[in-house]
Amino acid sequence: MKKIENVNLEGKKVIIRVDYNVPLDDNLNIVDDNRIKESLKTINYCLDKNCKIILLSHLGKIKKEEDKAKKSLKVVAKRLSELIGKEVKFIPATRGPLVDEAVLKMQPKDIIMLENTRFEDLDGKKESGNDSELAKYWASLGDIFINDAFGTSHRSHASNVGIASNIKESCIGFLIEKELDNLLPIINNPEKPFVVILGGAKISDKIGTIKNLISKADYILVGGAMAYTFLKAKGEKVGNSLIDSESLDFAKEMLEKSKKIILPIDHVLATDNSTSEYHIADTINDNEMGLDIGPKTIQLFESYLKTSKTIFWNGPMGYYENTTYQKGTKELCDFISKLDVTSVVGGGDTASCVINMGYKDKFTHVSTGGGASLELLEGASLPGINI
Ligand code: 3PG
Repeated sequence: MKKIENVNLEGKKVIIRVDYNVPLDDNLNIVDDNRIKESLKTINYCLDKNCKIILLSHLGKIKKEEDKAKKSLKVVAKRLSELIGKEVKFIPATRGPLVDEAVLKMQPKDIIMLENTRFEDLDGKKESGNDSELAKYWASLGDIFINDAFGTSHRSHASNVGIASNIKESCIGFLIEKELDNLLPIINNPEKPFVVILGGAKISDKIGTIKNLISKADYILVGGAMAYTFLKAKGEKVGNSLIDSESLDFAKEMLEKSKKIILPIDHVLATDNSTSEYHIADTINDNEMGLDIGPKTIQLFESYLKTSKTIFWNGPMGYYENTTYQKGTKELCDFISKLDVTSVVGGGDTASCVINMGYKDKFTHVSTGGGASLELLEGASLPGINI
């Protein structure tokens, strides 16, 4: 896809696909508005070009009618309006007369946001299945399509691939450009030593990434629940720690193939993850589970990080949902923030951790895409971008 700077946008009606899949609490407050903030550059650029702006996004997954109440984009439109200092008209529909009329009435510099594109999934997965009638309808609303939803670019949905295939002109926005500028060098030509930190619970989601990175990275430091699958594959006792049992064989194969995988040597242990009573030890008893990396592991990981020139990090080091077990993640954040390196954080939970702990500006880049950045690092081509 072309870059936004190479398209004549003056006075045009633009459809911008953004990724406003932001975390909401039970009272529908936005917990992390980073994705909204990161979309402002493209929207402001379009305002400067006197465009009429139609915003499309998904929010969560919609599997049943009841999901709709908690997944409306209304709160997001309000937040965007505060951030941009201008009215963002929320249209509580994804198609039909409400949408048509709102689009018809638009004046230059007007912004409207349609309801969650995945509301269309209730009736035969029309958004996620890239239904051609829906894609053509959305494409018919504007003159130019701008895809700026990096977090969704590993999906081939009606609101990205579908619209782009049915409209005369498409391009990527500034958010996607920034993501590619920061993520592609990591995979194509990282300055060495290149150290990868992987955490989180499931190895199975990251098999492709691990396979690809193992040849490019100098070391892969593994923490989080993922580490226990590797330790078990090595024959160590892991007690009741969370295990991704379907990935045990893969973990064993990787450990046999490569000496680059560095595992924890001590652990923060408790009998369950809701308690704040823990102790630290090198070995794990049968009734215990590992919930964070221990101090010796933090030191070990730091010894690899301090000599590195490039760091990529995806996945927290512990059960960070309970603040008692955030220390490993926080200490590594702090340590990396003081290094003179290229440091890139994959999206999802790790990005939220880094942002909530106040370290966003200390990293070279914090991606807005979880699955998308991992697929890019796997070496996969992202359908939402490579149309
Ligand atoms: C994300 O948060 O990773 C993106 O918004 C994609 O969401 P999805 O995994 O529900 O498609």
